[in-house]
Amino acid sequence: MTFLDKAKAKARKQVRTIVFPEGDEKRTVAAAAILRSEGLADPVLIGSGEAVARAANEAGVSTDGITVIDPVTSPETSRYAQELFELRKAKGMTPQEADTLSRDPMYFGVMMVRLGDADGLVSGAVHTTGQMLRPALQIIGPKPGVSVVSSCFMMILPDESIGENGLLLYSDGVVNPCPNAEQLAEIALTSADTARAVCGIEEPRVALLSFSTKNSASHELVSKVQEAAAIAKEKAPELKLDGELQFDAAIVPEVGAVKAPGSPVAGRANVLIFPDLQSGNIGYKITQRLGHAEAFAILQGLAKPCNDLSRGCSVEDIVNTAVMTAAQVTDTDIRSR
Ligand SMILES: CC(C)(COP(=O)(O)OP(=O)(O)OC[C@H]1O[C@@H](n2cnc3c(N)ncnc32)[C@H](O)[C@@H]1OP(=O)(O)O)[C@@H](O)C(=O)NCCC(=O)NCCS
Repeated sequence: MTFLDKAKAKARKQVRTIVFPEGDEKRTVAAAAILRSEGLADPVLIGSGEAVARAANEAGVSTDGITVIDPVTSPETSRYAQELFELRKAKGMTPQEADTLSRDPMYFGVMMVRLGDADGLVSGAVHTTGQMLRPALQIIGPKPGVSVVSSCFMMILPDESIGENGLLLYSDGVVNPCPNAEQLAEIALTSADTARAVCGIEEPRVALLSFSTKNSASHELVSKVQEAAAIAKEKAPELKLDGELQFDAAIVPEVGAVKAPGSPVAGRANVLIFPDLQSGNIGYKITQRLGHAEAFAILQGLAKPCNDLSRGCSVEDIVNTAVMTAAQVTDTDIRSR
């Protein structure tokens, strides 16, 4: 059973409400119909009834049994606007701005999640990452004990000898352009949590990547990764984590044994931490295109799950991301409703 199969089984057992702010988008409506018919989620589509019906028609699916909410006419909009104003007034938001934003499907959807009217959100088939991230960061924010929200790519490789039976986690390829050592350490620890809690990996083995392995090169960029590894080790001494390691030293046992003998991680890493957003984003795309890996990302460290899609996503990508979103819902979220 793959980790995705396990996540689907979990999603069917405890069906979560997942909101889709892009409810008038064809692939999104098709994905919602699959989620509903397969019992994987209780989808909510945001958009005008007319636009959602048009998208469903284009996709050739029915929206029977799926909740559709128009933020322009919904009775909840004024409640969301009030809450949004209270939340952001110290940052200069006016009641008028809160009112306007609450009619925006993205803000409406994020407010639903904040107030417990939905368990999680999936968006990004149309909107850019930044358009989806800002409301999530401003309205949901990081979970207690976390200061840096980041992303984690699940890379499913054809070669099952790599990582965790062919699954490698890559972080961060979406959010933080230039993390400092403290932030990188936090990203590494949050990724280990994701490996355990979302992917069911019992023993995360975390490698902080660089162009150097164990002082083979000296440069300020290498020092940042070494510092991050030291901070993370101090905060979680029980975790199998090492750095700095080159990519080959992290995942190829023979290379790891030569370049980093005695490392608890080298050669068998299943969680790879990239030093910045450029390397993380480029790395996942190379693995996807040349390594023929399936890739999808989740955001990690948010107090409640909100996830971003690639604008080139398929219907299956949306279904899978919704399933992973459901897998991120914690019982704490449910109790706080
Ligand atoms: C994530 C991103 C949108 C934040 O941009 P930003 O300019 O820092 O945005 P803002 O300053 O408006 O920040 C919004 C809020 O989020 C907070 N924030 C920003 N990044 C954060 C992070 N990683 N973790 C937690 N909070 C964060 C800010 O502190 C701010 O909070 P506040 O408004 O309550 O004070 C920006 O870093 C970004 O565009 N990243 C790259 C995204 C991208 O294009 N990825 C492409 C790969 S697919």
